[in-house]
Amino acid sequence: MNLEGKVAFITGAASGIGLATARTFAAAGARVVGADLSEAALAREFAAIDGALAIALDVTDSTAVNEAFAKLDAEFGRLDAVINAAGVNAPNKAANDKLVESNVRSFRAARSGEEYFPDFLGDITDEDFRRVLEINLFGPFYVMRAAAPLLKRTGGGAIVNVSSSAALLGVPMPVYYPASKAGVLGMTRGAAAELAPFNIRVNAIAPGAVDTPLFRQQPEEITGMLIGMQPIKRPAAPEEIAETLLFLASDSGAYYTGQTLSPSGGLHM
Ligand SMILES: NC(=O)c1ccc[n+]([C@@H]2O[C@H](COP(=O)([O-])OP(=O)(O)OC[C@H]3O[C@@H](n4cnc5c(N)ncnc54)[C@H](O)[C@@H]3O)[C@@H](O)[C@H]2O)c1
Repeated sequence: MNLEGKVAFITGAASGIGLATARTFAAAGARVVGADLSEAALAREFAAIDGALAIALDVTDSTAVNEAFAKLDAEFGRLDAVINAAGVNAPNKAANDKLVESNVRSFRAARSGEEYFPDFLGDITDEDFRRVLEINLFGPFYVMRAAAPLLKRTGGGAIVNVSSSAALLGVPMPVYYPASKAGVLGMTRGAAAELAPFNIRVNAIAPGAVDTPLFRQQPEEITGMLIGMQPIKRPAAPEEIAETLLFLASDSGAYYTGQTLSPSGGLHM
């Protein structure tokens, strides 16, 4: 699988899946443009990736997203692959801490046979719900909208959106996350149908546990339980997810469009 001579735009490129993908794509011959909210981490990580361009941006800012593609166009004059990997579990640290606390209580209760029913729905504010949708769903939309004209001009290409197994399974958690990730799957299928005549493929992946800073935000008690739910009892390395993204973004995945691949150790079958 190679991306020789191709240009790839990757969001969430400063950490976890996005960073592993940037490194994997560069090793496969692509010139990589990485975008992330975290300017310092992006600059630090991208210094080691040959010929890569780092652009600090917030994917919820559609003007900044449009400007990033204008910059990419001015620099490289073509676009072949787009990976939407930027995403969050929760709208802010307080909500994430609360989620972790509820998960710990749920898992302890499940082990001891005690009854505990977290009120995730009641705890979500309008603003929390909106914020997660803005990052996880509006962000990939802004990116796809800005990328499509460039991909068309190049003569084709591939978009891969990073969803989650949470979009495919029913598990108790704040609904903003599966809502945003299921929205990504719907958007993927719609765009796949629209863009197929232009030789542009649009697919999604729905990973299970992936060993990234996002995953490790949770205590081992929880990550251990999550991994325990998977037939393959270990988290994926981010590089393994990057290989699936490389397959879908490269010509090896030429007959896939509108699909969701789930590298989840069998969590979703
Ligand atoms: N790690 C897992 O177990 C797992 C499982 C399923 C799906 N996912 C999805 O994979 C994607 C990547 O997650 P990860 O585990 O690599 O997380 P991560 O936290 O390691 O990396 C996410 C990156 O996205 C960036 N980001 C966040 N908000 C942004 C914004 N508004 N604009 C631009 N960049 C922003 C962060 O700065 C960070 O660098 C996410 O969409 C996540 O939902 C992760």
